[in-house]
Parts: sequence; C-alpha cells; structure tokens
Amino acid sequence: MALKRFPVYLPWAKFLVCLTIIMKTTPPSEPPCQNVQLLNWVKEMAALCKPDQIHWVDGSQQEYDALCAQLVAGGTFIKLNEKLWPGCFYARSDASDVARVEERTFICSKTKEDAGPTNNWADPVEMKAKLTKLFDGSMRGRTMYVLPYSMGPIGSPISQIGVEITDSAYVVVNMRIMARIGQAVFKEIDKGLRWVPCMHSVGAPLAAGQKDVIWPCNKEKYIVHFPETLEIWSFGSGYGGNALLGKKCYALRIASTMARNEGWMAEHMLILGVENPKGEKTYVAAAFPSACGKTNFAMLIPPATFKGWKVWTVGDDIAWIKPGKDGRLHAINPEAGFFGVAPGTSDKTNPNAMKSLARNSIFTNVARTLDGGVWWEGMTDAPPAELIDWQGNKWTPAIGKEKGIKAAHPNSRFTAPASQCPTIDPDWENPQGVPISAFIFGGRRATTMPLVFQSFNWTHGVYVGATMGSEMTAAAAGTVGKVRRDPMAMLPFAGYNMADYFAHWLSMQKSVKFLPAIFHVNWFRKSAEGKFLWPGFGENMRVLKWITDRVNGRAAAVESPIGWVPRYQDFEWTGLEFSPEEFEQVMALDNDAWAKELIDQETLFFNLRDRLPRQLINERQQVISRM
Ligand code: GTP
Ligand code: SPV
Ligand code: MN
Repeated sequence: MALKRFPVYLPWAKFLVCLTIIMKTTPPSEPPCQNVQLLNWVKEMAALCKPDQIHWVDGSQQEYDALCAQLVAGGTFIKLNEKLWPGCFYARSDASDVARVEERTFICSKTKEDAGPTNNWADPVEMKAKLTKLFDGSMRGRTMYVLPYSMGPIGSPISQIGVEITDSAYVVVNMRIMARIGQAVFKEIDKGLRWVPCMHSVGAPLAAGQKDVIWPCNKEKYIVHFPETLEIWSFGSGYGGNALLGKKCYALRIASTMARNEGWMAEHMLILGVENPKGEKTYVAAAFPSACGKTNFAMLIPPATFKGWKVWTVGDDIAWIKPGKDGRLHAINPEAGFFGVAPGTSDKTNPNAMKSLARNSIFTNVARTLDGGVWWEGMTDAPPAELIDWQGNKWTPAIGKEKGIKAAHPNSRFTAPASQCPTIDPDWENPQGVPISAFIFGGRRATTMPLVFQSFNWTHGVYVGATMGSEMTAAAAGTVGKVRRDPMAMLPFAGYNMADYFAHWLSMQKSVKFLPAIFHVNWFRKSAEGKFLWPGFGENMRVLKWITDRVNGRAAAVESPIGWVPRYQDFEWTGLEFSPEEFEQVMALDNDAWAKELIDQETLFFNLRDRLPRQLINERQQVISRM
C-alpha cells in the first residue's frame, strides 16, 4: 500500500471533514480501523499536535522501504554498503540524546505512595496539563504516524496491544523490527481487544520553510506513565527506550502494573532454552540490568567440548510470564527484534548477534568505515586505520587515544530482527510461551558477589533478586561504574511501588504448582589488578549447565551462608584451564565486603519501609545470622 498523506486542517469542523476523507480514501477492503475510541483519540491528538499530515502505518515492506528512503533523503539515515551490509541503515543521534533518561522518567499514579520511593512521581492531573502544553503544536511541519503494534505474537493470550502516535519516521522503522506492527494489529483492535495509547513527539516542530536537522529532539524531556489509565506520553527524545514506546515504557513499566493487577509478571529478562545431549530442553529466564549481558547470555554458544549441548534464544531483554494450565510459569518474548548494545559485540564474543545484525538492521551511534560499513569498539581486535566516529568526525586510533574519545558511543546499538538469529528457538513465537524452570538474577559486580549461587527457596530467591546490586552503565544517562541497588534489574522499569512489586513476586508462589528455582550469577568479578576473574561469554555455559542440572536434580551443591554453591568438582571443566584456586577466588565470600553489602541492602529496605514485605526483612536477618 502506498504512503497515504492527508493535510490536516483546523479548526475542528474542517478536521472532521478531513478524517472522513481519510476513511474514504483508504480502500474499503482494508480500512485502517473502525474502533471509535481509536479514531477519536487520533482526531484529538492531531488537533493538539497539529501535524501537517497523518500517516496510518500499515506495516508493509513497501512502506518500510519508502520511510527508509525518506530518512535517507532527509539525512537521518545513511544507506550502508549494500554488498557488505545488505538492507542496513546508519543513524547518529544528537549528542544530547543517546540513552534512557531516568531523571526525566515519571510514574504518575494518583498517589505518590503508589509510585513508591524509587520512582519519580508527579500528580497525574498536573502532569497531563504540562504535557498537553508541550504537545500543543509539537508536530507542526511534521507527519503524525499512527502506529499500531502488538507486544508478543498476534493472538497470543499473553500478548498486549499498543498504538503509538509519533512524529518520528525513525521510530516507525525501528518499531517495525522490534514489534509486530500494522494492519494485522488494527484488526485485533477492531475485535475489541484492550490497547494502550502511547503519545510520542520529538518535540521539534518546524516552522514553514524551516530546514530539519538530522536528529530532531528537545532539551526538555519527559517519559511519562499513567499506570491507572494505562497511558504513555513521551516528549523530547528520539532514542531507544525513550521513544520506542513498546519496549521499556509499555512492556515493563505499564505491563508490570497490568501484571500485578492481573496475576502475571513483566520482567527485564532474557529467555533461553538449554538443550542437553539427550535432547531435553530446559528454559530459564535471567534478569541482568541494562548493558550487563542479557543479549550475550541469550545467544550463548557452548564451548566446543560441550558436545550435544545447545542454547536456544527466545528473547534478549523482556519476558512476560503467566501461570499455565500445567502448573508452570510460561514466558513469551514480547518483542520481535533486538535493540542490542554494539560495543563488545564480535564474532568471538557473540557470533549469533553478529549474524542477526548482518542484514536488514539499523545501527545508531556506532562508527562508520570508509567503505560504507560500521565498526565499534571490540568488533575487531584492532580498529580500522580511519573511521567516521559517532559524532560524524574523522577518527583514527591516534586521534582516539589523544583525545580520549571512542569511535562508537558506549550505548550505541543495533536494531536487528530476532528471526535472523541463528539460534532462535523454534518455539519463540509459540502463543503459549515456553515453560520456565529457573530464574537467574545477576549484576555487574567487581567485588563481593560470587560467580553463582542458588537460593534456598522461592522467598529467599525473591530476597536475592530484591537486594541485587549492579554498577551503573552507559545505558542510562548518569554516573557509570557506581554500584546501586537494582532490584530484579527493574529499578528504572517498575511501574509501581517497588515494595508492592516484591510482594507481587512473593505472591506468585501461590499461583503455580512447579516453582522455578532461583539463582544469582556475576560474570564481572575482578582481581585486585582490575582483570575479570571469569572468562565469561561462551564459558558461561559451565554455569548454565550447573544451573539446569540443579533444576533437573543432577548436580550437587553445598550450603553457604548466602545459598547453595557449587564446589570445583561440580562444574564441567573440559576445554578450559581454570584452576581450583581461580575457582575459589571467583566464588569467595569476603566477610568485610558482605558486611558492606548487607548495610547497603538495609538502605534500600529502609527506603521501602512503608510497604516492604516482612518476609524479606526476615530473609536478610537470616543471612546475617548465617554469616
Ligand atoms: P541491555 O540491552 O541494555 O538491556 O543490555 P544487555 O543486558 O543485553 O547486555 P549485553 O549482552 O548487550 O552486554 C553488555 C556489555 O557487556 C557488552 O559490552 C558485552 O560485551 C559485555 N558482556 C556480556 N557478557 C559478558 C560476560 O560474560 N563477561 C564480560 N566480561 N562481559 C560481558
Ligand atoms: C536498556 O537500557 O535496558 C535497554 C535499552 O534495553 S533501551 O531500549 O534504550 O531501554
Ligand atoms: Mn534492557
């Protein structure tokens, strides 16, 4: 279907006429949608934002191609060398718009207590008034895209629908990779299914004749969630989770609220399946904070000596989990693509990611090679002799060293279709999801946390997840490297009071017969000299084997103050030189470090004291007495 553009005239009466034209000009065999609520909302938002035209997104390949061509013409996209990077495009953002903005992210529940002390709160009425002002005329000179999307396979009982109104074509094409979008979703809406309205504007209206910039955005940013009315409003940013509203805003913040109310879970978790030599498959879901290894773990390739073992990828960032009729928890990946961290991704560390992103992908804020390709730190051992860095400047290894600048931004990312992943699980689009046997929590910790341990039971496991700590990364604007509490990797993503979220986790044990076991891992422990003690990446299979063997009753462990831990002999070591002494180092429990850890946990608990479940205080008490 060709692009459809319609002038929007105001005032109101003329606008109604225009909408009638929209409805009429759309071929009667495929009207975008009949849903009165949706049509009224679009009408209202168009009147507010005053775009030049409205484009109902049909999700077709022709539409995608046309939008990419339009982005190329406007300078936002650069088409990469078709021979080297078929179907791929490059974008670089404004230097002020490169990551999630946690300080500008709000949960606007009726009461501040319902948002809780770990979220920014604003009164919903006041915030709506503020946003209405900001969005007034915010799309002048631009096209307003109406983008229907399904998080999860269309028709799955675990999936949910959203409609994003955006003035960014970059957002539309990225969302086409990240979610199921277009005509088929309009059909679902017409069936009467619930859908969440999501407003997005880059906040950069154009005056008549004004030339656009390659990355329009606004200094003032608002990423706002209304959990009671199930709405999202995002203003001022065009980047990642700030703008692709199906991802963090919907699939985590809004969905976590829905999930609490409806008895399911929305988690910042990868999902993978481990196949053993007998052909048995065990699915696990793992919560690591942003830029802490989910994509890598989800696409793990076992060491060559692990004959017959295979890891299958279901998802790399988000899991929606529901109790199934079989008494187990079932998870789907609500996304259809990977929005992955580029730096560090290579044929050595993550060949599956490299194959996923080799075609039909979009690269944002990486560096460009002179032959029309892309490069980022870690892609190859030695950087090319000359590059164009993520800010568009000439970069050589010498310039990089002298000025201390990276060729690619540390939070530069690829947007790649999940279907292109060589290890994508045959069941990754199964509407019933996959049964989860274990949850794994893990942070980026240079000290204190051992390579792996298993919680004693569900309640203890919830405590382990709730008290998780991790060093901050470039995925969010802020101080990189500082350890902060990041409960269940959800600190920036819980749509309601974190203490209530813990209570919801605890309550889930009543809704399933077969509870997943809960583990904690840390790939990032360092020596006093600052070197990683654990080789990581594919070698994480050794930990994963122990975990799945534990779940299946085939691996031994011993008790420690913090949980069940493996001994050296409980791991498969063939193919890796790793001595018992090295293992001891990476598993060590240091008393002083743990004293600090437990005090830091107390700060979190004190913060959440109003609603903190007593069971968690009890669990902490027990660790202290065991220590
Ligand atoms: P988000 O997309 O932000 O949610 O990140 P993520 O959790 O998917 O993290 P990702 O897998 O993209 O990894 C982030 C960074 O950590 C990359 O630079 C990886 O190379 C690095 N990394 C991943 N796994 C390991 C590991 O096992 N050991 C070490 N040392 N680094 C790792
Ligand atoms: C994260 O920060 O956890 C991400 C990237 O997965 S973004 O989509 O920008 O939130
Ligand atoms: Mn993430």
